Amino acid sequence: MTDTKKSATLSLNGESYELPIFSPTAGPDVLDIRKLYAQAGVFTYDPGFTSTASCDSTITFIDGNKGELLHRGYPIDQLAGKSHYLEVCYLLLYGELPTATQLEDFEGRVTRHTMVHEQMHNFFRGFRRDAHPMATLVGVVGAMSAFYHDSTDISDPWQREVASIRLIAKLPTIAAMAYKYSIGQPFVYPRNDLDYAANFLHMCFSVPAEDYNVNPILARAMDRIFTLHADHEQNASTSTVRLASSSGANPFACVAAGIACLWGPAHGGANQACLEMLKEIGTVDRIPEFIARAKDKNDPFRLMGFGHRVYKNTDPRATVLKQSADEVLELLGIEDNPLLQVAKELEQTALHDPYFIDKKLFPNVDFYSGIILEAMGFPTSMFTPIFTVARTVGWVSQWKEMIADPQNKIGRPRQLYLGETTRNYTDIENR
Ligand code: ACO
Repeated sequence: MTDTKKSATLSLNGESYELPIFSPTAGPDVLDIRKLYAQAGVFTYDPGFTSTASCDSTITFIDGNKGELLHRGYPIDQLAGKSHYLEVCYLLLYGELPTATQLEDFEGRVTRHTMVHEQMHNFFRGFRRDAHPMATLVGVVGAMSAFYHDSTDISDPWQREVASIRLIAKLPTIAAMAYKYSIGQPFVYPRNDLDYAANFLHMCFSVPAEDYNVNPILARAMDRIFTLHADHEQNASTSTVRLASSSGANPFACVAAGIACLWGPAHGGANQACLEMLKEIGTVDRIPEFIARAKDKNDPFRLMGFGHRVYKNTDPRATVLKQSADEVLELLGIEDNPLLQVAKELEQTALHDPYFIDKKLFPNVDFYSGIILEAMGFPTSMFTPIFTVARTVGWVSQWKEMIADPQNKIGRPRQLYLGETTRNYTDIENR
Protein backbone atom coordinates (compact mmCIF):
# COMPACT_ATOMS: atom_id res chain seq x y z
CA MET A 1 0.00 0.00 0.00
CA THR A 2 2.80 2.47 0.83
CA ASP A 3 4.34 4.25 -2.11
CA THR A 4 7.92 4.24 -0.82
CA LYS A 5 8.98 6.70 -3.52
CA LYS A 6 6.83 9.46 -2.06
CA SER A 7 7.11 11.11 1.32
CA ALA A 8 6.58 14.49 2.98
CA THR A 9 9.04 16.19 5.30
CA LEU A 10 7.84 17.74 8.52
CA SER A 11 10.18 20.26 10.17
CA LEU A 12 9.58 20.62 13.87
CA ASN A 13 11.77 22.16 16.56
CA GLY A 14 14.85 21.96 14.32
CA GLU A 15 14.32 18.28 13.48
CA SER A 16 13.07 16.74 10.22
CA TYR A 17 10.65 13.82 10.05
CA GLU A 18 9.84 11.86 6.91
CA LEU A 19 6.16 11.00 6.58
CA PRO A 20 5.44 8.21 4.06
CA ILE A 21 2.67 8.88 1.56
CA PHE A 22 0.06 6.30 0.58
CA SER A 23 -1.19 6.47 -3.00
CA PRO A 24 -4.85 5.43 -3.26
CA THR A 25 -6.39 3.96 -6.42
CA ALA A 26 -8.57 7.09 -6.48
CA GLY A 27 -8.76 10.25 -4.37
CA PRO A 28 -6.09 12.38 -2.69
CA ASP A 29 -2.77 11.06 -1.38
CA VAL A 30 -2.71 10.19 2.33
CA LEU A 31 0.11 11.08 4.73
CA ASP A 32 1.02 8.26 7.12
CA ILE A 33 1.36 9.85 10.57
CA ARG A 34 1.16 6.65 12.62
CA LYS A 35 4.72 6.96 13.94
CA LEU A 36 4.57 10.74 14.43
CA TYR A 37 3.91 10.70 18.18
CA ALA A 38 6.55 8.03 18.84
CA GLN A 39 9.15 9.91 16.78
CA ALA A 40 8.31 13.58 17.27
CA GLY A 41 6.17 13.57 20.45
CA VAL A 42 3.25 15.50 18.88
CA PHE A 43 -0.36 14.71 18.06
CA THR A 44 -2.34 15.96 15.07
CA TYR A 45 -5.63 17.85 15.56
CA ASP A 46 -8.66 17.22 13.34
CA PRO A 47 -12.05 17.30 15.07
CA GLY A 48 -14.75 16.22 12.63
CA PHE A 49 -12.16 14.23 10.65
CA THR A 50 -12.17 16.78 7.83
CA SER A 51 -8.64 15.80 6.70
CA THR A 52 -8.13 12.39 8.30
CA ALA A 53 -8.52 8.93 6.76
CA SER A 54 -9.58 6.66 9.63
CA CYS A 55 -8.99 3.40 7.73
CA ASP A 56 -8.24 1.94 4.31
CA SER A 57 -11.14 0.44 2.39
CA THR A 58 -12.00 -1.07 -0.98
CA ILE A 59 -15.79 -0.77 -0.76
CA THR A 60 -17.04 2.71 -1.68
CA PHE A 61 -15.45 5.79 -3.26
CA ILE A 62 -16.84 9.32 -3.41
CA ASP A 63 -15.43 12.18 -5.49
CA GLY A 64 -17.28 15.13 -4.00
CA ASN A 65 -16.11 17.62 -6.63
CA LYS A 66 -17.25 15.45 -9.53
CA GLY A 67 -20.43 14.31 -7.75
CA GLU A 68 -19.36 10.68 -8.18
CA LEU A 69 -20.29 7.71 -5.97
CA LEU A 70 -18.83 4.27 -6.77
CA HIS A 71 -19.52 0.93 -5.07
CA ARG A 72 -16.64 -1.47 -5.79
CA GLY A 73 -16.00 0.77 -8.83
CA TYR A 74 -19.54 0.77 -10.23
CA PRO A 75 -21.28 4.21 -10.52
CA ILE A 76 -24.40 4.57 -8.38
CA ASP A 77 -26.59 5.74 -11.28
CA GLN A 78 -25.81 2.50 -13.18
CA LEU A 79 -26.56 0.41 -10.09
CA ALA A 80 -29.81 2.32 -9.39
CA GLY A 81 -30.88 1.99 -13.03
CA LYS A 82 -29.81 -1.56 -13.91
CA SER A 83 -29.32 -3.47 -10.67
CA HIS A 84 -31.41 -3.96 -7.55
CA TYR A 85 -30.86 -3.78 -3.80
CA LEU A 86 -29.93 -7.38 -2.99
CA GLU A 87 -27.50 -7.54 -5.92
CA VAL A 88 -25.89 -4.32 -4.62
CA CYS A 89 -25.76 -5.92 -1.14
CA TYR A 90 -23.84 -8.86 -2.64
CA LEU A 91 -21.49 -6.46 -4.42
CA LEU A 92 -20.79 -4.50 -1.24
CA LEU A 93 -20.31 -7.62 0.89
CA TYR A 94 -18.22 -9.77 -1.45
CA GLY A 95 -16.57 -7.28 -3.84
CA GLU A 96 -17.89 -8.46 -7.23
CA LEU A 97 -21.24 -8.60 -9.01
CA PRO A 98 -22.73 -12.09 -8.51
CA THR A 99 -23.33 -14.67 -11.23
CA ALA A 100 -26.97 -15.75 -11.62
CA THR A 101 -26.34 -18.81 -9.39
CA GLN A 102 -24.54 -16.77 -6.72
CA LEU A 103 -27.36 -14.22 -6.69
CA GLU A 104 -30.02 -16.90 -6.39
CA ASP A 105 -28.15 -18.51 -3.51
CA PHE A 106 -27.65 -15.14 -1.75
CA GLU A 107 -31.29 -14.09 -2.17
CA GLY A 108 -32.36 -17.47 -0.82
CA ARG A 109 -30.14 -17.09 2.25
CA VAL A 110 -31.45 -13.59 2.99
CA THR A 111 -35.06 -14.63 2.43
CA ARG A 112 -34.78 -17.60 4.80
CA HIS A 113 -33.60 -15.30 7.63
CA THR A 114 -36.36 -12.67 7.47
CA MET A 115 -38.38 -13.94 10.45
CA VAL A 116 -37.35 -12.83 13.94
CA HIS A 117 -37.26 -15.02 17.05
CA GLU A 118 -40.87 -15.26 18.23
CA GLN A 119 -39.90 -14.11 21.71
CA MET A 120 -38.82 -10.78 20.24
CA HIS A 121 -42.52 -9.98 19.79
CA ASN A 122 -42.82 -9.77 23.59
CA PHE A 123 -39.74 -7.59 23.71
CA PHE A 124 -41.48 -5.04 21.43
CA ARG A 125 -44.46 -4.94 23.72
CA GLY A 126 -42.32 -3.44 26.49
CA PHE A 127 -42.04 -0.15 24.55
CA ARG A 128 -44.57 2.67 24.72
CA ARG A 129 -46.75 2.88 21.62
CA ASP A 130 -45.75 6.52 21.05
CA ALA A 131 -42.00 5.75 21.02
CA HIS A 132 -40.18 6.99 17.91
CA PRO A 133 -39.50 3.92 15.73
CA MET A 134 -35.77 4.80 15.77
CA ALA A 135 -35.78 4.48 19.58
CA THR A 136 -37.36 1.04 19.23
CA LEU A 137 -34.87 0.05 16.53
CA VAL A 138 -31.83 0.98 18.66
CA GLY A 139 -33.16 -1.20 21.49
CA VAL A 140 -34.34 -4.19 19.46
CA VAL A 141 -31.29 -4.42 17.20
CA GLY A 142 -29.02 -4.19 20.27
CA ALA A 143 -31.14 -6.98 21.81
CA MET A 144 -30.47 -9.24 18.81
CA SER A 145 -27.23 -10.22 20.58
CA ALA A 146 -29.43 -11.69 23.34
CA PHE A 147 -31.37 -13.79 20.78
CA TYR A 148 -28.70 -14.92 18.32
CA HIS A 149 -25.77 -16.06 20.51
CA ASP A 150 -24.61 -18.45 17.83
CA SER A 151 -23.41 -15.60 15.61
CA THR A 152 -21.63 -13.32 18.06
CA ASP A 153 -18.13 -14.87 17.98
CA ILE A 154 -16.41 -12.37 15.71
CA SER A 155 -13.24 -14.49 15.43
CA ASP A 156 -15.21 -17.14 13.49
CA PRO A 157 -15.68 -16.17 9.79
CA TRP A 158 -18.77 -18.40 9.53
CA GLN A 159 -20.47 -16.67 12.47
CA ARG A 160 -19.58 -13.30 10.96
CA GLU A 161 -21.26 -14.37 7.73
CA VAL A 162 -24.39 -15.60 9.54
CA ALA A 163 -24.61 -12.38 11.58
CA SER A 164 -24.30 -10.30 8.38
CA ILE A 165 -27.12 -12.17 6.65
CA ARG A 166 -29.30 -12.01 9.76
CA LEU A 167 -28.88 -8.24 10.06
CA ILE A 168 -29.66 -7.56 6.38
CA ALA A 169 -32.61 -9.98 6.42
CA LYS A 170 -34.20 -9.02 9.74
CA LEU A 171 -33.86 -5.22 9.69
CA PRO A 172 -36.90 -4.74 7.37
CA THR A 173 -38.93 -7.04 9.63
CA ILE A 174 -37.87 -5.18 12.77
CA ALA A 175 -38.47 -1.73 11.19
CA ALA A 176 -41.92 -2.81 9.96
CA MET A 177 -42.72 -4.22 13.44
CA ALA A 178 -41.68 -0.90 15.04
CA TYR A 179 -44.10 0.86 12.66
CA LYS A 180 -46.98 -1.57 13.22
CA TYR A 181 -46.49 -1.37 16.98
CA SER A 182 -46.56 2.47 16.86
CA ILE A 183 -49.97 2.47 15.09
CA GLY A 184 -51.47 -0.33 17.18
CA GLN A 185 -51.78 -2.86 14.36
CA PRO A 186 -50.74 -6.54 14.57
CA PHE A 187 -47.29 -7.54 13.38
CA VAL A 188 -47.25 -8.91 9.83
CA TYR A 189 -44.98 -11.90 9.13
CA PRO A 190 -42.59 -11.71 6.13
CA ARG A 191 -43.52 -13.44 2.86
CA ASN A 192 -40.76 -15.37 1.15
CA ASP A 193 -42.41 -15.19 -2.28
CA LEU A 194 -41.90 -11.41 -2.39
CA ASP A 195 -38.66 -9.61 -3.15
CA TYR A 196 -36.89 -7.58 -0.45
CA ALA A 197 -38.60 -4.22 -1.13
CA ALA A 198 -42.05 -5.68 -1.87
CA ASN A 199 -41.89 -7.75 1.31
CA PHE A 200 -41.07 -4.62 3.32
CA LEU A 201 -44.12 -2.79 1.89
CA HIS A 202 -46.22 -5.88 2.65
CA MET A 203 -45.06 -6.00 6.29
CA CYS A 204 -45.75 -2.26 6.70
CA PHE A 205 -49.07 -1.91 4.91
CA SER A 206 -50.96 -5.20 4.88
CA VAL A 207 -53.42 -6.15 7.63
CA PRO A 208 -54.85 -9.59 8.45
CA ALA A 209 -58.39 -8.43 7.62
CA GLU A 210 -57.92 -7.99 3.87
CA ASP A 211 -55.64 -8.74 0.93
CA TYR A 212 -52.88 -6.32 0.07
CA ASN A 213 -51.29 -6.39 -3.36
CA VAL A 214 -47.92 -4.70 -3.59
CA ASN A 215 -47.81 -2.29 -6.54
CA PRO A 216 -44.68 -3.26 -8.55
CA ILE A 217 -43.85 0.36 -9.40
CA LEU A 218 -43.93 1.31 -5.73
CA ALA A 219 -41.83 -1.77 -4.90
CA ARG A 220 -39.32 -0.68 -7.56
CA ALA A 221 -39.21 2.85 -6.09
CA MET A 222 -38.71 1.37 -2.60
CA ASP A 223 -35.91 -0.84 -3.91
CA ARG A 224 -34.27 2.19 -5.51
CA ILE A 225 -34.40 4.13 -2.23
CA PHE A 226 -32.74 1.16 -0.49
CA THR A 227 -30.10 0.93 -3.25
CA LEU A 228 -29.26 4.64 -3.13
CA HIS A 229 -28.74 4.55 0.65
CA ALA A 230 -26.82 1.25 0.84
CA ASP A 231 -23.36 2.60 1.67
CA HIS A 232 -21.51 5.91 1.78
CA GLU A 233 -17.93 5.12 2.89
CA GLN A 234 -16.74 6.51 6.26
CA ASN A 235 -19.78 8.65 7.24
CA ALA A 236 -20.65 9.28 10.90
CA SER A 237 -22.75 6.15 11.50
CA THR A 238 -20.36 3.84 9.64
CA SER A 239 -17.42 5.26 11.58
CA THR A 240 -19.45 4.68 14.76
CA VAL A 241 -19.94 1.02 13.81
CA ARG A 242 -16.22 0.65 13.06
CA LEU A 243 -15.16 2.33 16.32
CA ALA A 244 -17.61 0.27 18.40
CA SER A 245 -16.45 -2.96 16.80
CA SER A 246 -12.75 -2.09 17.15
CA SER A 247 -13.04 -3.19 20.79
CA GLY A 248 -14.28 -6.62 19.71
CA ALA A 249 -17.98 -5.96 20.49
CA ASN A 250 -20.50 -8.19 18.71
CA PRO A 251 -22.02 -7.01 15.39
CA PHE A 252 -25.58 -6.54 16.71
CA ALA A 253 -24.35 -4.18 19.44
CA CYS A 254 -22.18 -2.30 16.91
CA VAL A 255 -25.01 -1.85 14.39
CA ALA A 256 -27.25 -0.61 17.23
CA ALA A 257 -24.58 2.06 17.89
CA GLY A 258 -24.64 2.96 14.19
CA ILE A 259 -28.43 3.32 14.28
CA ALA A 260 -28.18 5.70 17.25
CA CYS A 261 -25.76 7.87 15.28
CA LEU A 262 -27.82 7.81 12.09
CA TRP A 263 -30.84 9.14 13.98
CA GLY A 264 -29.38 12.69 14.31
CA PRO A 265 -30.83 15.47 12.09
CA ALA A 266 -27.43 16.30 10.56
CA HIS A 267 -27.23 12.72 9.26
CA GLY A 268 -30.09 10.26 8.60
CA GLY A 269 -32.65 12.37 10.45
CA ALA A 270 -32.45 15.04 7.72
CA ASN A 271 -35.07 13.35 5.49
CA GLN A 272 -37.70 13.81 8.19
CA ALA A 273 -36.54 17.39 8.84
CA CYS A 274 -36.63 18.17 5.09
CA LEU A 275 -40.22 17.05 4.62
CA GLU A 276 -41.29 18.99 7.72
CA MET A 277 -39.57 22.07 6.24
CA LEU A 278 -41.35 21.66 2.86
CA LYS A 279 -44.66 21.42 4.71
CA GLU A 280 -43.83 24.53 6.73
CA ILE A 281 -43.06 26.46 3.52
CA GLY A 282 -46.35 25.11 2.17
CA THR A 283 -46.74 27.20 -0.99
CA VAL A 284 -44.38 28.41 -3.71
CA ASP A 285 -44.95 32.09 -2.88
CA ARG A 286 -43.33 31.61 0.57
CA ILE A 287 -40.04 30.30 -0.87
CA PRO A 288 -38.25 33.72 -0.99
CA GLU A 289 -38.92 34.17 2.73
CA PHE A 290 -37.26 30.82 3.58
CA ILE A 291 -34.35 31.38 1.17
CA ALA A 292 -33.73 34.72 2.90
CA ARG A 293 -33.79 32.99 6.30
CA ALA A 294 -31.31 30.32 5.13
CA LYS A 295 -28.92 33.08 4.02
CA ASP A 296 -29.29 35.15 7.19
CA LYS A 297 -26.25 34.64 9.44
CA ASN A 298 -28.33 35.57 12.50
CA ASP A 299 -30.99 32.93 11.79
CA PRO A 300 -30.07 29.30 12.65
CA PHE A 301 -32.46 28.04 9.92
CA ARG A 302 -30.84 25.95 7.17
CA LEU A 303 -32.38 24.53 4.02
CA MET A 304 -32.81 20.89 5.01
CA GLY A 305 -31.81 18.46 2.28
CA PHE A 306 -29.23 20.96 1.00
CA GLY A 307 -25.45 20.78 1.38
CA HIS A 308 -23.11 17.91 2.08
CA ARG A 309 -19.72 17.51 3.75
CA VAL A 310 -18.28 15.67 0.75
CA TYR A 311 -20.41 16.50 -2.33
CA LYS A 312 -19.58 19.97 -3.62
CA ASN A 313 -21.07 19.69 -7.10
CA THR A 314 -24.08 17.42 -7.10
CA ASP A 315 -25.28 14.44 -5.05
CA PRO A 316 -25.75 11.72 -7.69
CA ARG A 317 -28.33 10.00 -5.47
CA ALA A 318 -30.54 13.12 -5.50
CA THR A 319 -30.58 13.13 -9.33
CA VAL A 320 -31.96 9.57 -9.41
CA LEU A 321 -34.48 10.25 -6.65
CA LYS A 322 -35.87 13.35 -8.36
CA GLN A 323 -36.82 11.13 -11.32
CA SER A 324 -38.28 8.50 -8.96
CA ALA A 325 -40.39 11.16 -7.25
CA ASP A 326 -41.94 12.14 -10.60
CA GLU A 327 -42.67 8.47 -11.45
CA VAL A 328 -44.22 7.61 -8.09
CA LEU A 329 -46.41 10.69 -7.90
CA GLU A 330 -47.59 10.18 -11.48
CA LEU A 331 -48.44 6.55 -10.69
CA LEU A 332 -50.41 7.61 -7.65
CA GLY A 333 -52.13 10.35 -9.67
CA ILE A 334 -50.77 13.15 -7.49
CA GLU A 335 -48.36 14.86 -9.95
CA ASP A 336 -49.68 18.21 -8.77
CA ASN A 337 -48.61 17.38 -5.21
CA PRO A 338 -47.96 20.80 -3.61
CA LEU A 339 -44.90 19.52 -1.73
CA LEU A 340 -43.26 18.41 -4.99
CA GLN A 341 -44.02 21.80 -6.52
CA VAL A 342 -42.46 23.57 -3.53
CA ALA A 343 -39.44 21.22 -3.65
CA LYS A 344 -38.82 21.77 -7.38
CA GLU A 345 -39.23 25.54 -7.18
CA LEU A 346 -37.06 25.73 -4.04
CA GLU A 347 -34.34 23.69 -5.74
CA GLN A 348 -34.36 25.95 -8.83
CA THR A 349 -34.36 29.15 -6.76
CA ALA A 350 -31.47 27.95 -4.61
CA LEU A 351 -29.44 26.65 -7.55
CA HIS A 352 -29.57 30.12 -9.15
CA ASP A 353 -28.83 32.04 -5.96
CA PRO A 354 -25.19 33.28 -5.53
CA TYR A 355 -25.20 32.27 -1.81
CA PHE A 356 -25.83 28.60 -2.60
CA ILE A 357 -23.63 28.66 -5.74
CA ASP A 358 -20.65 30.19 -3.89
CA LYS A 359 -20.95 27.76 -0.96
CA LYS A 360 -21.45 24.81 -3.34
CA LEU A 361 -24.76 23.81 -1.74
CA PHE A 362 -26.83 21.35 -3.77
CA PRO A 363 -29.81 19.10 -2.99
CA ASN A 364 -28.66 15.95 -1.20
CA VAL A 365 -30.26 12.48 -1.09
CA ASP A 366 -32.74 13.58 1.55
CA PHE A 367 -34.29 16.32 -0.56
CA TYR A 368 -36.57 14.08 -2.63
CA SER A 369 -36.70 10.82 -0.65
CA GLY A 370 -39.22 12.17 1.89
CA ILE A 371 -41.67 13.20 -0.85
CA ILE A 372 -41.61 9.67 -2.29
CA LEU A 373 -41.95 7.99 1.09
CA GLU A 374 -44.85 10.20 2.13
CA ALA A 375 -46.63 9.54 -1.17
CA MET A 376 -46.23 5.81 -0.49
CA GLY A 377 -48.04 6.27 2.81
CA PHE A 378 -45.18 6.34 5.32
CA PRO A 379 -45.35 8.81 8.21
CA THR A 380 -42.28 11.07 8.61
CA SER A 381 -41.18 9.11 11.69
CA MET A 382 -40.50 6.10 9.42
CA PHE A 383 -38.14 7.94 7.04
CA THR A 384 -35.01 7.42 9.14
CA PRO A 385 -35.89 3.76 9.98
CA ILE A 386 -36.11 3.14 6.21
CA PHE A 387 -32.66 4.72 5.78
CA THR A 388 -31.53 2.38 8.60
CA VAL A 389 -32.80 -0.72 6.76
CA ALA A 390 -30.94 0.34 3.62
CA ARG A 391 -27.66 1.31 5.33
CA THR A 392 -27.39 -1.93 7.34
CA VAL A 393 -25.55 -3.62 4.47
CA GLY A 394 -23.05 -0.75 4.36
CA TRP A 395 -22.36 -1.04 8.09
CA VAL A 396 -22.05 -4.81 7.86
CA SER A 397 -19.73 -4.70 4.82
CA GLN A 398 -17.46 -2.13 6.46
CA TRP A 399 -17.50 -4.12 9.72
CA LYS A 400 -16.56 -7.35 7.92
CA GLU A 401 -13.76 -5.59 6.05
CA MET A 402 -12.40 -4.20 9.29
CA ILE A 403 -12.51 -7.46 11.27
CA ALA A 404 -10.75 -9.35 8.46
CA ASP A 405 -7.96 -6.73 8.30
CA PRO A 406 -4.86 -7.99 10.18
CA GLN A 407 -3.94 -4.35 10.95
CA ASN A 408 -7.20 -3.89 12.87
CA LYS A 409 -6.60 -2.37 16.32
CA ILE A 410 -8.81 -0.66 18.87
CA GLY A 411 -9.75 2.89 17.85
CA ARG A 412 -8.40 5.28 20.44
CA PRO A 413 -8.22 8.98 19.41
CA ARG A 414 -5.94 11.35 21.33
CA GLN A 415 -6.90 14.87 22.45
CA LEU A 416 -5.80 18.47 22.76
CA TYR A 417 -6.18 18.85 26.52
CA LEU A 418 -7.15 22.39 27.63
CA GLY A 419 -8.28 21.65 31.20
CA GLU A 420 -6.64 22.20 34.59
CA THR A 421 -3.21 20.75 35.25
CA THR A 422 -2.49 18.82 38.49
CA ARG A 423 -3.95 20.45 41.60
CA ASN A 424 -4.53 19.22 45.15
CA TYR A 425 -7.93 18.09 46.42
CA THR A 426 -9.63 20.66 48.66
CA ASP A 427 -11.74 19.42 51.58
CA ILE A 428 -15.42 20.41 51.26
CA GLU A 429 -15.38 22.78 54.24
CA ASN A 430 -12.57 24.79 52.64
CA ARG A 431 -14.20 25.39 49.21
N1 ACO B 1 -28.62 25.97 4.24
C1 ACO B 1 -28.01 27.19 4.36
N2 ACO B 1 -26.69 27.34 4.53
C2 ACO B 1 -25.93 26.22 4.60
C3 ACO B 1 -26.49 24.92 4.49
C4 ACO B 1 -27.89 24.82 4.30
N3 ACO B 1 -28.47 23.62 4.19
N4 ACO B 1 -25.52 24.00 4.60
C5 ACO B 1 -24.38 24.68 4.78
N5 ACO B 1 -24.62 26.02 4.76
C6 ACO B 1 -23.62 27.08 4.89
C7 ACO B 1 -23.14 27.22 6.33
O1 ACO B 1 -23.89 28.18 7.04
C8 ACO B 1 -21.71 27.63 6.13
O2 ACO B 1 -21.69 29.01 5.85
P1 ACO B 1 -20.44 29.92 6.33
O3 ACO B 1 -19.24 29.38 5.64
O4 ACO B 1 -20.82 31.31 5.89
O5 ACO B 1 -20.36 29.77 7.82
C9 ACO B 1 -21.26 26.90 4.87
O6 ACO B 1 -22.48 26.67 4.13
C10 ACO B 1 -20.57 25.56 5.16
O7 ACO B 1 -21.40 24.78 6.03
P2 ACO B 1 -20.84 23.75 7.11
O8 ACO B 1 -21.91 23.49 8.13
O9 ACO B 1 -19.50 24.22 7.61
O10 ACO B 1 -20.60 22.46 6.21
P3 ACO B 1 -20.48 20.96 6.73
O11 ACO B 1 -19.75 20.22 5.68
O12 ACO B 1 -19.92 20.91 8.11
O13 ACO B 1 -22.01 20.48 6.84
C11 ACO B 1 -24.13 19.55 6.35
C12 ACO B 1 -22.65 19.67 5.92
C13 ACO B 1 -24.23 19.15 7.85
C14 ACO B 1 -24.83 18.47 5.53
C15 ACO B 1 -24.83 20.93 6.14
O14 ACO B 1 -24.77 21.29 4.77
C16 ACO B 1 -26.28 20.94 6.63
O15 ACO B 1 -26.52 21.20 7.81
N6 ACO B 1 -27.27 20.66 5.71
C17 ACO B 1 -28.67 20.54 6.11
C18 ACO B 1 -28.93 19.18 6.78
C19 ACO B 1 -28.93 18.03 5.78
O16 ACO B 1 -29.57 18.09 4.74
N7 ACO B 1 -28.23 16.93 6.15
C20 ACO B 1 -28.20 15.70 5.31
C21 ACO B 1 -26.82 15.37 4.90
S1 ACO B 1 -26.83 13.98 3.79
C22 ACO B 1 -26.97 12.63 4.80
O17 ACO B 1 -26.59 12.57 5.92
C23 ACO B 1 -27.60 11.46 4.20
